[in-house]
Amino acid sequence: MKVLITGGAGFIGSACAKALMERGDTPVLLDNFNDYYDPQLKRDRIGRFLGEYTGRFVLREGDIRDAEFTEKIFAEDRPEKVIHLAAMAGVRNSLRDPLLYADVNVLGTTNLLNLAVKHGIKNFVYASSSSIYGKNTPPFSETDNVDTPISPYAATKKATELMAHTFSHIYQLPTTGLRFFTVYGPWGRPDMALIKFTEQILADKEIEVYNFGNMSRNFTYIDDIVSGTLTVLDADLPCGVMNIGGDREETLLAFIETIETCTGKVAKKKLMPMQPGDVESTVANIDKLRGLGWQPTTRIDVGIKNFVEWYREYYGA
Ligand SMILES: NC(=O)c1ccc[n+]([C@@H]2O[C@H](COP(=O)([O-])OP(=O)(O)OC[C@H]3O[C@@H](n4cnc5c(N)ncnc54)[C@H](O)[C@@H]3O)[C@@H](O)[C@H]2O)c1
Repeated sequence: MKVLITGGAGFIGSACAKALMERGDTPVLLDNFNDYYDPQLKRDRIGRFLGEYTGRFVLREGDIRDAEFTEKIFAEDRPEKVIHLAAMAGVRNSLRDPLLYADVNVLGTTNLLNLAVKHGIKNFVYASSSSIYGKNTPPFSETDNVDTPISPYAATKKATELMAHTFSHIYQLPTTGLRFFTVYGPWGRPDMALIKFTEQILADKEIEVYNFGNMSRNFTYIDDIVSGTLTVLDADLPCGVMNIGGDREETLLAFIETIETCTGKVAKKKLMPMQPGDVESTVANIDKLRGLGWQPTTRIDVGIKNFVEWYREYYGA
């Protein structure tokens, strides 16, 4: 099966591509290699992480907002299904550039939904986010009201879900939005806490701990995200959204302790107030995805150990 993965050079996209190839499918990777974070990491995911599969995937470099470029991919590469992950990610950065977030995340997604209908795509699975739950009371369930986002990023993800629902309703395009909960693991994003903390702890620098450490997350290991995404890709559900998160709530301080154990170093913590747009706790109710037979399996100590090993090797730290 041919599967178009937008954001294919990204953290989650490249990992999904690898898993698809391992089971014999052919991914078509679309990415614009933008500089929100070091594009070399994106190039290395393609060249090194996916290196052994060279020749078994297609790489298309360009922008999801470019109607002509994307139309050509659907017409010439002829994917059967789509995993749409390309987006401007990151809550804090969305406060600095809300126009770019709206443009890429909403306009770009609408362009792809339009093409998916035109080219008879059998299943359109796309990234939403746990940030959509805003200040709701955890645990978060798919049936909760999510009409009150608290960051431009979260608002664009909500808009994406609304647009996907519209296309499913009018054209019977099967769509499922995946509400990812704090993803971590090897080849992860440099703007996320784990990589920043590891870098600073290894360099004996102070780490900034927001909300004075009173935060908790359902951290989700990349392999569990990938297995959940492929479960949904294979299920061809008509229309909906799905939480995909780890099954244990971890406090930020316990998370930092695990990094300390894995690096063999003690963190110098600088306790800071809450950042605008951020939320205190994100805990997922994952019963819906469990109903499809999926289960997260990676414990945080194992996941962080794998991450720190990768980090030391990749960055030579
Ligand atoms: N990582 C997480 O914890 C997390 C949590 C919730 C939601 N998400 C969502 O999951 C998706 C993937 O996240 P990720 O962590 O892999 O992020 P990522 O930034 O590593 O991957 C996104 C990729 O999309 C590409 N891209 C961005 N704008 C593009 C455009 N206009 N045209 C073509 N390509 C473009 C980027 O170059 C990047 O390689 C995103 O939609 C993100 O919002 C991620």
